[in-house]
Amino acid sequence: MRHIRLPACWTVLSAAGLALLVALSLAACGGSSASSPSSGSKRAVAALAGKQVFETAGCAGCHTLAAAGASGSIGPDLDKVKPTLAIVERQVTHGGGVMPSFAGKLSKTEIAAVAKFVSTATH
Ligand code: HEC
Repeated sequence: MRHIRLPACWTVLSAAGLALLVALSLAACGGSSASSPSSGSKRAVAALAGKQVFETAGCAGCHTLAAAGASGSIGPDLDKVKPTLAIVERQVTHGGGVMPSFAGKLSKTEIAAVAKFVSTATH
């Protein structure tokens, strides 16, 4: 009896170990080049979402931003303006000049993500 039970337990243990290894290596891949793995991968995810917002909300049509491959020229060149997170958030929420407010189109989370993306991409 013991001879049958032992290998069965071993199989379960090593399967669990393998799953853990796979999960760990997947997490490591998501972290990209950031130095601290946990906060780094969260930052990468936020930046990715922010880039998507930038591309899909129409920012790229009016603004130049190298990090998003955008070359719009209706609004200021964000690579030159280098707006802070607070400035992007305020501008996107309220609009200003020719730029429309995005408060009704984007959620607070999306605005925060795009603000983080633009401010980190230009600093
Ligand atoms: C219809 C064109 C248009 C769109 C779309 C647009 N912008 Fe703008 N944006 C402008 C213009 C024009 C200004 C300058 C406003 C002014 O004169 O005060 C501006 C200003 C800004 C500023 C302030 C720059 C500064 O002077 O500090 C930021 C930041 C900004 N836009 C980010 C964004 C983001 C992010 C998006 C997408 C969510 C976006 N814009 C979409 C036209 C646009």
